[in-house]
Amino acid sequence: MEVAEVMESELVWGRHYLAVEPTAFRVEYAINPFMDVEVQPDAALAFRQWHELVRVLRECGARVDVLPQRRDAPDMVYAMNLGLGVLDADGDRRAVLSHMRYAERRMETRSAERWLREHGWATSVVGRDGVGPHLEAGDAFAWRGSLVVGYGPRTEELALKHVAAELGVRVQGLKIAHPGMYHLDLAFCPLDARRALVCPDALDATSAAALLDLVPEPIVLTEEEALTTFCANSVVVGRTVVMPACPERVRRQLEEWGFTVRVVDVGEFHKGGGSIRCLTNPVDVALGRDLDVVPGGLVELA
Ligand code: ARG
Repeated sequence: MEVAEVMESELVWGRHYLAVEPTAFRVEYAINPFMDVEVQPDAALAFRQWHELVRVLRECGARVDVLPQRRDAPDMVYAMNLGLGVLDADGDRRAVLSHMRYAERRMETRSAERWLREHGWATSVVGRDGVGPHLEAGDAFAWRGSLVVGYGPRTEELALKHVAAELGVRVQGLKIAHPGMYHLDLAFCPLDARRALVCPDALDATSAAALLDLVPEPIVLTEEEALTTFCANSVVVGRTVVMPACPERVRRQLEEWGFTVRVVDVGEFHKGGGSIRCLTNPVDVALGRDLDVVPGGLVELA
């Protein structure tokens, strides 16, 4: 590939994130198979790991804005799930807030809403306080013009319609059928315009086939790789992939494609069931650039 083509295929979004500084991170309840209240994170180590992650992201050229953590919201550190932000054609900021599946996390959205409004975002919801469909933003990715959304364990199918209509985009729904990969971001990571890390084992057979159809050049991860290393839960800043771990085979392919791999240990956060992607929420996805504008919205299910 020519340099120009490589540049053109880079993800444009992923250079501006929201993150929540872990001042009250712990495992207080178990809402996913990784969480065990008997296995607590080391708070000081988690704090250092998080700061190192932010430092590396900034070194890669990304901007990271930091929200304070609520004392009563131990999972708020997984900022990816606070909501789905997009810039519309006028550059205005719009966020669809998450409506968490588990009541334990619902107060996080209230704080995010306040913070976003104070920082110039218009916010909307598809449901709140247990009324209306659940939506968790860790299930949603802009990819090749569509919003690819996993549904099942957390996000409900009905939420796809609401998001599509609210943002005026095409939503491609994929059904998650794995209890350990309860958010799409544990099984899917767009790398550039053609490539992505994918773990088809997270999805039912039809959706797995649909995801592989969607990605011209996938790196297919085994269930074991995805679950034990969290390597799909990575973020991409231009040609740099910031990963919690990287199996050798995956690293070879990434480097062959011209990516630089930066491994940052965020192991303490794996005790809550999330890694690098979960800790960061990209807020520079643009309608009309990263997502096709589809007035009224459209949902396509696998
Ligand atoms: N303990 C959190 C939960 O179960 C982990 C969230 C992980 N975040 C993510 N984007 N996958 O909700």
